[in-house]
Amino acid sequence: MNKRNIIIDCDPGIDDVIAISLAIANEDKLNILGISTVAGNQSIEKVTNNALKLVSFFDKNIKVAQGSKCPLIREKTVAKYVHGDTGMGNYELPPSKFSLYSNNAITFLRDTIINADGKVTLVPIGPLTNIALLIKTFPEVVDKIELLSIMGGATIGGNRTSCAEFNVWADPEAARIVFDSNIPIVMSGLNITHQTGLDKNDISNLLNSQGAVSHMVGEILDFYLKGDHVNGGTFAPIHDACSIMYLIHPEIYEYKHMEVKVDCSEGLSRGNTVTDVRDWVTYDESYPKVLLQVNSEKFKELLIEYIYKLDRMFER
Ligand code: BDR
Ligand code: CA
Repeated sequence: MNKRNIIIDCDPGIDDVIAISLAIANEDKLNILGISTVAGNQSIEKVTNNALKLVSFFDKNIKVAQGSKCPLIREKTVAKYVHGDTGMGNYELPPSKFSLYSNNAITFLRDTIINADGKVTLVPIGPLTNIALLIKTFPEVVDKIELLSIMGGATIGGNRTSCAEFNVWADPEAARIVFDSNIPIVMSGLNITHQTGLDKNDISNLLNSQGAVSHMVGEILDFYLKGDHVNGGTFAPIHDACSIMYLIHPEIYEYKHMEVKVDCSEGLSRGNTVTDVRDWVTYDESYPKVLLQVNSEKFKELLIEYIYKLDRMFER
């Protein structure tokens, strides 16, 4: 099987850390060409530092490029209430032994995509600022992008506000550019990410584990459970991991192609992703593939299995 080339565009961020870990556990299927960072869950300096520390923790010299410090137009808002002061809850990863590969994620993305052997899938799991800038600045990359596997939006509802998901709400103008770009999109919105995740019991099993990776994941999720949860604080959705899981196990998802429009107005509907969920309306494959159902038991089983696989791979 040919490996899929991917670049993860992220704002680590607790669930971003788990998404990147999941990708590293699946390097037999995914060729990770790099990680680009964007301000979102925390400042650009903090999320970039977390990305560098994480790749070092795994002893993987994956290229890390620092991206946008703020949204295209809006004021920057960080999600300290969910991801803590450092962006990783109370967990301290050791300092990174690797340094930043590039301080310009947009040219890094362009060069990496253009020079890649074959097409590249981008996995945007933070605000879409870098991806919008990439498309507008270097439109020549568009034909070499195989897919955007995006964590963002929702068919209904929100988390940052009653009708907007954080990543889209943070930079709605960028999200609109991306959703209107005609690049193939798979959207993992809150409607899918809230269907699956880990509960208190799973998290305490990870915390009690001897493995360095499962322990780290347990620690950051223990913090996360207080800030981003459903079912009254007993269940943590691992949003960003869904966009990676789709690439390695698409068979556990059901989807429909739909029109997705981003509301860029100010006020209550800012960042709402208006998805056409009407049963009787059909869209062809050029429209975003919106994930609608996941086998949640299978998702959880796979996620835990891959975390334990990482423990074995990086036994210390
Ligand atoms: C998204 O917002 C961030 O806080 C998470 O990392 C995820 O990407 C969920 O709405
Ligand atoms: Ca994120």
